[in-house]
Amino acid sequence: MSESMLDVIGQIETEGLASLEQASDATALEDWRIAFLGTKGRLKKAMGGMKDVTKADKPAVGQKMNQTKNALESAFKAKSGGESDSGSGAAKGKSTGKTLFDITEPGVDPQLGKRHVITRTISELAEIFARMGFKIAKGPEVEDEWHNFIALNIPDDHPARDPLDNFYLDGKNLLRTQTSTVQIRVMENSEPPFKVVSMGRVYRPDEVDATHSFMFHQIEGLYVDRNVSVVDLKTTLLQFAKAYFGEEADVKLVPSFFPFTEPSAEMYMKMKIKGKWDWVELGGCGMVDPNVLKAVNIDPEEWTGFAFGLGIERIAMRKYGIPDIRWLYGNDLRFLQQV
Ligand code: DAH
Repeated sequence: MSESMLDVIGQIETEGLASLEQASDATALEDWRIAFLGTKGRLKKAMGGMKDVTKADKPAVGQKMNQTKNALESAFKAKSGGESDSGSGAAKGKSTGKTLFDITEPGVDPQLGKRHVITRTISELAEIFARMGFKIAKGPEVEDEWHNFIALNIPDDHPARDPLDNFYLDGKNLLRTQTSTVQIRVMENSEPPFKVVSMGRVYRPDEVDATHSFMFHQIEGLYVDRNVSVVDLKTTLLQFAKAYFGEEADVKLVPSFFPFTEPSAEMYMKMKIKGKWDWVELGGCGMVDPNVLKAVNIDPEEWTGFAFGLGIERIAMRKYGIPDIRWLYGNDLRFLQQV
């Protein structure tokens, strides 16, 4: 089989070189090029036979094919004035005015897309919390005052309720300012115990700068059961920090105030930034305020719980060394290709 392939190729070469000798003008040269090197020419036809060559014989036949191709091409080039160079992928043949393609030139890889760095961070966080037994909960981005404020123990006169600090859609509904809304939705719709995390967008009419955006993402955690204590909160956060940032990571809780937790704390995590371990404030946490449990008809004497909320951009920006939050949403490929 491949014997005959080698013969066929050899014959194309001999005949090709001989008949090229005879070609005496531009038309004849072009006819020759079409007959031997053209897309339907003899060499191309012979290449079609490659698929029938056994695997063992392929290298030898392939090599012979290349030799012949090179021999015919350079003879053609020499005869037609040496200018129909096909070196850079496609070039004009002087005698033919047609484009010759170098089929051996490596192609250009198609550009592949990838998931956005925030989407990837969300999946990583979800996976870590799933391993710790947290289920994923979802809630709407358009919320009412009950879920965004009232049930979360945020009173009417609280500064967070200022219409200027919220995107109100009408008198009653707004874009949620925090994923804590999902705590209420989960507790309204099922029976304790609860162990959930929820990731999603939140909206605040902040002036946009390197660290502020009118839209960003949070991850919210809620664990309500019998006898849940601050120790469970700290242990969970510490386990998360180590799983995400590495064994040397640490957690520090600094007393603070949130209407929906009592006691409340700001949460700092020790993470590696540019090779150096440093403390970074990532969000808030605390023990679920009894008023919140009462708002969703859960008996605070029987059930206790903790909650936490972290800014996802903060985590991702620190982890990947992104200095400006606007880069995340600017759709600039120069940035997106790097992260
Ligand atoms: N919702 C708070 C915010 O957006 C963050 C937060 C603090 C969430 C304490 C919590 C929590 O669940 O317990 O600033």
